[in-house]
Amino acid sequence: MNIDAILKKYPRKKEYLIEILHDIQNQHPQQYVSEDAVIAVTQYLKIKRAQVYGVLGYYSILSSQSRGKYLIRICGSPVCNMMGSDNLIDFISGRLGIELGQTTPDGLFTLETTECLGNCGAAPAMMVNQDMYGSLTPEKVESILKKLK
Ligand code: FES
Repeated sequence: MNIDAILKKYPRKKEYLIEILHDIQNQHPQQYVSEDAVIAVTQYLKIKRAQVYGVLGYYSILSSQSRGKYLIRICGSPVCNMMGSDNLIDFISGRLGIELGQTTPDGLFTLETTECLGNCGAAPAMMVNQDMYGSLTPEKVESILKKLK
């Protein structure tokens, strides 16, 4: 991943901070913003490290911790919750042998929850990297996990 190439796509204005961090994270194989990347961003936008880490900490979609090749984000907002997202979390947790926030030892999967994905009509919903899945059942999740492995 070439951080300079990513940075050059954006004007040197701090209004672009979130977009830049998203871009960096999406292009990193472990889907996070590394310390080196944070430093490069601070130099590019002429802002303080605390500002970047503040944004990284505020938005649950962003992370300064390395994650798996596949980031599974289960919607934990009310509609999905009513439709059984907790059961899906338990199911995935059991299948992968990890708790929320953890990554499988092979570095393949990280399991997280997220706010509403805007896919409430197909609750319960989840995203795996940039792909959206809805109307999930344990069987459906099982087949998605198998395809990814
Ligand atoms: S509540 Fe889950 S997608 Fe909206």
